[in-house]
Amino acid sequence: MGEVKKLSAANLGLAQGTLAQDGCGAQVTEYRQALVGDLPGIGEVFFVAFAESIQHAGVGPAAQAAIEDLFGLVLAAEPEGLIVAVSEGQVVGYTLATVNAKHMRRRIFEHGGWLRILWRLLTGGYGIGWRTLRVILGDKRSFLRGARMYGGYQARMLSLAVHPNAQGQGIGRELFGAGVGWLRGRGAQAIRLEVRPDNVPARRIYESFGFEPRGEYQDSQSKWMVMTWESSGQSAFRKEEREDPRLSS
Ligand SMILES: CC(C)(COP(=O)(O)OP(=O)(O)OC[C@H]1O[C@@H](n2cnc3c(N)ncnc32)[C@H](O)[C@@H]1OP(=O)(O)O)[C@@H](O)C(=O)NCCC(=O)NCCS
Repeated sequence: MGEVKKLSAANLGLAQGTLAQDGCGAQVTEYRQALVGDLPGIGEVFFVAFAESIQHAGVGPAAQAAIEDLFGLVLAAEPEGLIVAVSEGQVVGYTLATVNAKHMRRRIFEHGGWLRILWRLLTGGYGIGWRTLRVILGDKRSFLRGARMYGGYQARMLSLAVHPNAQGQGIGRELFGAGVGWLRGRGAQAIRLEVRPDNVPARRIYESFGFEPRGEYQDSQSKWMVMTWESSGQSAFRKEEREDPRLSS
């Protein structure tokens, strides 16, 4: 997979479209904001990296199109928050961050594209049956309950995944650093994420960026651990942080 080109969030913009070779001719990995053309690659990475959860939900390969469509909505709502790692022309990883989860949800709702997705879902276009839908909706309810239990963090790291063939080369750490760097650059004083407690590689990354365990909740598969980073080292439950105008967009 070659050497990873080190790029900070600050120069993500500059990095766009600059995939090149290093001085020795080895392929390097480019980190940049996602483009619409990256959506199939992102869907594929999601599908293989989260294979266990996908198996648990009981969805088939047709559901990959649903993932692509959902990331398409996210890209429209928070274009700078979706960052990809590209190597040899292929998306090998992505991360998704939002400055303000509430505002992102509103922009997704206003976008209207979700209606097409809902229609395709209900008419069987993604091959997702009612039993699976119940599992997914139940887990979404757990997620929202968890958000209320450990609330007050609008800036979120929502997803991180690297293709299994490219794992263990520092790409996950680089992507996460780019996402967190972008959030901090936008004024985030507190950031929240969720991780399965037994996900050692992910936790190593998050802990090295100063994220600490805050609490746990359960969904149909297993436990989620809530982790947070706070610039002040103080709780983000405070009202002024919840309503920090710098986190509005
Ligand atoms: C979590 C994930 C994104 C990490 O990506 P990656 O590119 O493999 O990670 P890196 O190469 O940057 O390594 C990150 C850390 O994990 C460690 N690590 C990697 N594989 C490991 C393993 N199998 N066991 C234990 N530690 C491991 C690395 O040593 C590194 O820690 P260090 O820098 O302190 O040495 C990737 O494993 C993945 O996509 N997993 C499936 C999806 C997922 O769980 N996403 C996170 C959801 S919260």
